[in-house]
Amino acid sequence: MTTTSISDSPLPAAPAAAPGHPAAGSPLATAHSQLASAVELLGYDAGQHQMLATPRREIHVAVPLRRDDGETVLFHGFRVQHNISRGPGKGGLRYHPSVDIDEVRALAMWMTWKCGIVDLPYGGAKGGVAIDPRHYSQAELERVTRRYTSEIMPMIGPDTDVMAPDMGTDEQTMAWVMDTYSVNRGYTIPAVVTGKPLAVGGSRGRGTATSAGIVHVTAAALEEAGVPLTDVTVAVQGFGKVGSHAAAIFAQRGAKVVAVSDQYGGLRNDAGIDVNRLLEHVAHTGSVVGFDGADALSNDELLGLEVDVLVPAAVEGVLDERTAGQVRARWVVEGANGPTTTAGDEILARNGVVVVPDVLANAGGVVVSYFEWVQANQTYWWTEAEIAEKLEHRMTSAYADVSALARRQGLSLRDAALVIGIERTAEAHRIRGLYP
Ligand SMILES: NC(=O)c1ccc[n+]([C@@H]2O[C@H](COP(=O)([O-])OP(=O)(O)OC[C@H]3O[C@@H](n4cnc5c(N)ncnc54)[C@H](O)[C@@H]3O)[C@@H](O)[C@H]2O)c1
Repeated sequence: MTTTSISDSPLPAAPAAAPGHPAAGSPLATAHSQLASAVELLGYDAGQHQMLATPRREIHVAVPLRRDDGETVLFHGFRVQHNISRGPGKGGLRYHPSVDIDEVRALAMWMTWKCGIVDLPYGGAKGGVAIDPRHYSQAELERVTRRYTSEIMPMIGPDTDVMAPDMGTDEQTMAWVMDTYSVNRGYTIPAVVTGKPLAVGGSRGRGTATSAGIVHVTAAALEEAGVPLTDVTVAVQGFGKVGSHAAAIFAQRGAKVVAVSDQYGGLRNDAGIDVNRLLEHVAHTGSVVGFDGADALSNDELLGLEVDVLVPAAVEGVLDERTAGQVRARWVVEGANGPTTTAGDEILARNGVVVVPDVLANAGGVVVSYFEWVQANQTYWWTEAEIAEKLEHRMTSAYADVSALARRQGLSLRDAALVIGIERTAEAHRIRGLYP
């Protein structure tokens, strides 16, 4: 692993972050403000700051859909490669009605730092389509995915930009992307996406990797405070791919999961929620709401519960100037990308809440995506135990690097993580030189 050092040189004036001027509290404003804070610690000049703030490539595509009833509707799709200096762009594909270019830029930037922090040979990218997938049939989602893939085809590829699932997409979506890309190239290219089904070159352990990584870094943070995982209570916001498996793994490892929620509402049971039974309920009903093993609770109430560990694993910006002051957890472990705004972060720090930042906490997904890409490129598949062991090693050593830097320099875990990720990216720029 690269050794991290922080330059002592004083900070030059920070440039206006490009591109555009994102709204305060928006994901891109949060990402820019985090970058500015790390750039200040690293003592980079205005030109370096601008390079790091600006995506290398962006594409905005129209995605027309012929609906099942014959009507035509049009969606907007995006793909952003924030940085490709350390390797191909890597990042998820999101289907959500609030997707826009600025959100995708923020998510792509976070992917760059994340891949740096866990030392993967990738840059950062992200894609999205502004669609609410709940309102469309599987056949319609397949057509949207294939058309979006065709439109962004010049930008993606196993050596250029590799997609994975994110909010609103899943392994089936990745199979459609892989098939569309492969059919157009004339042969099967599994490494163009990760997070695909096992039957077409997926990796064991990918489906639960983000969640397993969250639990690994939580255990590491607790261990530093001398608290065993089996002694803590946990609340998880969001019960999708990340939140549901995180809740299940926390419970398996002996923590008490006392509250969970999704976009329809939440649940609380101080004696501990039976997560396996809840998973069955969600598989049948599509929501945690109505589960008979707990009492109802709102999303806002969940954020303010007196628990040891709070895991926001849904959407961005839920811990802001309004809600962060209500948090009574000792640790916030960010499963979602960007769940805490800059104002929220300051309040949590003032109140002594330890925040394990998204770019570290939820990196388990991209770590096993990397393993999947390596396996696809070698056409040789590893066992579940091999994946689990390699994932735990990556996550705990990344946590140890971040925590050691934070202690040495008196930084928050977020600043320390960003300094590591950003410095590794800037180092690649420096060594490669500027073309021409
Ligand atoms: N899937 C991955 O591997 C991965 C990896 C790293 C980070 N993430 C991040 O984790 C977060 C969740 O992703 P996912 O893949 O689990 O998505 P998902 O679509 O599978 O699940 C999202 C969950 O959040 C809930 N939700 C949505 N809006 C909400 C709201 N306003 N309040 C409360 N709950 C709400 C949904 O009901 C659902 O339970 C996103 O920020 C994503 O970028 C995902």
